[in-house]
Amino acid sequence: MATHWRSVCIFTFLQLCTFTISRLEQVPTPPLPILPLPTYSQLKWQQRELIMFLHFGVNTFTDSEWGTGRESPAIFNPAGLDANQWVKTASDAGISLVILTAKHHDGFCLWPSKYTDHSVESSPWKSGHGDVVQELVTAAKTRDGIDVGLYLSPWDRHDRRYGQEVAYNQYYLAQLQELLSRYGSVREIWFDGSKGPNAPNMSYYFSDWFSMVRELQSSINIFSDAGPDVRWVGDEKGFAGSTSWSTINRSSLSIGNASIEGYLNTGDPQGTDWLPPECDVSIRNGWFWHKSESPKKLSKLLEIYYNSVGRNCVLLLNVPPNSTGLISKADVQRLRELRGAIDTIFSSNLADKCFIKVSSQRGGKGGGFGPENVLDNDHLWTYWAPKDGDKEEHWIEFRGRDKGLRFNVIRIQEAIGLGQRIKRHEIYVDGKRVAKGTTVGYKRLHRLEGGVVYGQIVRIRIKDSKGMPLISSIGLHFDPYWHPSG
Ligand SMILES: *[C@@H]1O[C@H](CO)[C@@H](O)[C@H](O)[C@H]1NC(C)=O
Ligand SMILES: *[C@@H]1O[C@H](CO)[C@@H](O)[C@H](O)[C@H]1NC(C)=O
Ligand SMILES: *[C@@H]1O[C@H](CO)[C@@H](O)[C@H](O)[C@H]1NC(C)=O
Ligand SMILES: *[C@@H]1O[C@H](CO)[C@@H](O)[C@H](O)[C@H]1NC(C)=O
Repeated sequence: MATHWRSVCIFTFLQLCTFTISRLEQVPTPPLPILPLPTYSQLKWQQRELIMFLHFGVNTFTDSEWGTGRESPAIFNPAGLDANQWVKTASDAGISLVILTAKHHDGFCLWPSKYTDHSVESSPWKSGHGDVVQELVTAAKTRDGIDVGLYLSPWDRHDRRYGQEVAYNQYYLAQLQELLSRYGSVREIWFDGSKGPNAPNMSYYFSDWFSMVRELQSSINIFSDAGPDVRWVGDEKGFAGSTSWSTINRSSLSIGNASIEGYLNTGDPQGTDWLPPECDVSIRNGWFWHKSESPKKLSKLLEIYYNSVGRNCVLLLNVPPNSTGLISKADVQRLRELRGAIDTIFSSNLADKCFIKVSSQRGGKGGGFGPENVLDNDHLWTYWAPKDGDKEEHWIEFRGRDKGLRFNVIRIQEAIGLGQRIKRHEIYVDGKRVAKGTTVGYKRLHRLEGGVVYGQIVRIRIKDSKGMPLISSIGLHFDPYWHPSG
C-alpha cells in the first residue's frame, strides 16, 4: 500500500514538473508573416532559379525573328529532331523547366491542332505525323525532374480570324484547351502582349483565357506583363532592377503597356500582390536560331545570372534549336560552362568555417531561430530571426577562425515564405563598407565592384525592413571568373 501511494505521489509530482517546465519553456513559434505571400506553385517556381525557353518553328528555317504568316508548312522539316537532346541539355545545366513556343506570331502550330491545317500536320516532317509538343513532353517524362511549359502567341499573322474579335478569341481559347488538356501537367504558360504596328486593333480576352488555364491545370503558373502568377521584368536584357520586389499592385498593370516597364522592373514595396519577376533573355542575339549567330560569352551569361537570379528573379534563358532540330554544339558547350562556373563559385562557402554573432535572436539560444540556420541547406523554412520588438539595428557577423577570409561574392537569402521584408542593407569587412543594396528577396548576390577582399570580420547590417528581417541563407564565395575593370 505504501509503495502504491509513493508511486502516485511521484507520478503527480512528475506531472506538475512537466506542466511547470512547459509553462516556463514554451517552444518559440515562428513570427507572423508579412503579406502578401507566395502561393505554393510560386515558391516552387522561384526555387528553380534557371528555366529554359525553346524558340522553334518556321522562323528556324527562314532566318527570321517574326514570321509573316505566309510561310509554307513545306519548309518545316527538322529531320534530326531529338527532344531528348533538348531535355538532356537542360538537365545538365541544372534547369528543371523547359518552355516551348507551341505557336509564334507566324501562326504555325508545332502540334496537330484540330482547328487549323497550318501546323506540323501539313509539313513533310515525319510525313505530317509529327507533334513537337508531344516529343518534348515524352522526353521530359523520361528524365526525372524536368517539367514542361508552353507559349502560345496571342498575335497570329496567319489565321484569317485574327481581327474578328470574337471569332479569334474563340480560336485562341480552343487551342489553349488542346494544349492544356492533351499533354498532361504543364507548369508554366507564357502570354505576351507582342503585336506588330500594323496588326488589327483587337482585344484579347485575357480573363477568359486565364480562367480556362486555371480550370485545366492546377499547379501551373501564368506568366504575363500583369501576372497573375509571374510578371515580366520589363526588359529583354535579362536584368532585374537593383531594387527588386516580388510584390506589386496588379491593379496598376496591363498587358503590352510600355509605360509600366520601370514599375515591372523594380516591383513595389507597398504592392498588395505577390507577383515575382521573370527575366527573359536569349543565349544568342536572336530568339530563333540563325546560322550566322553564336552564343554569348560566358562572362556575359554570368553577368546576366548575377543581375537576374542574383536580384530575386528567375532567369528564363532562351536556347534555340537549329534547323536539324537539335541544340547546336556551341550552345550546349556554353551552357555546360555556365553550369560549371555556377557550381565552382557557389559550391564552397567560407562562412561555413566562421564564428557567427548576431544582434539578437528570437526565442534565445536553442530557440530554433539562431544564426546557424543561415548555413544549412534549407533556404526557405529555417532562418535567423532577431528578437521581436528589438529596436536596435539588426546585424549578423562572421569571423574567420585563424586566417583571413578571401572572397568577392556575397549571397544573402530571405525566408520569403513569410514575406519579402528587407528594404536596405550594407556589408562591412573589418569596418569598411564593401557593398550596399536595397532589396534581398529569395536571393541577392553582390559581386564586389572592388574585386577580391581580404579580411577577418564580415558584418551584414540590415538598415531597414518591413518588420523583423528573416534571413535563411548567407554565403561568402570566391568567383574566379570575376575581374572588374578599373
Ligand atoms: C482600339 O480599340 C479600342 C476599343 O476596343 C479603342 O478604345 C482604341 O481607341 C482603339 N485604338 C486604336 C489605335 O484604334
Ligand atoms: C498604361 O499604364 C499607364 C500607367 O500606369 C496607365 O496610365 C495607362 O492607362 C495604361 N494604358 C493601358 C492601355 O492600359
Ligand atoms: C499599391 O497599393 C498600395 C495599397 O493600396 C498603395 O499604398 C500604394 O501606393 C500602391 N502603389 C502605387 C505605386 O500606386
Ligand atoms: C544542329 O546542331 C547539331 C548538334 O551540334 C549539329 O550536328 C547540326 O549539324 C546542326 N545543324 C545545323 C543546320 O547547323
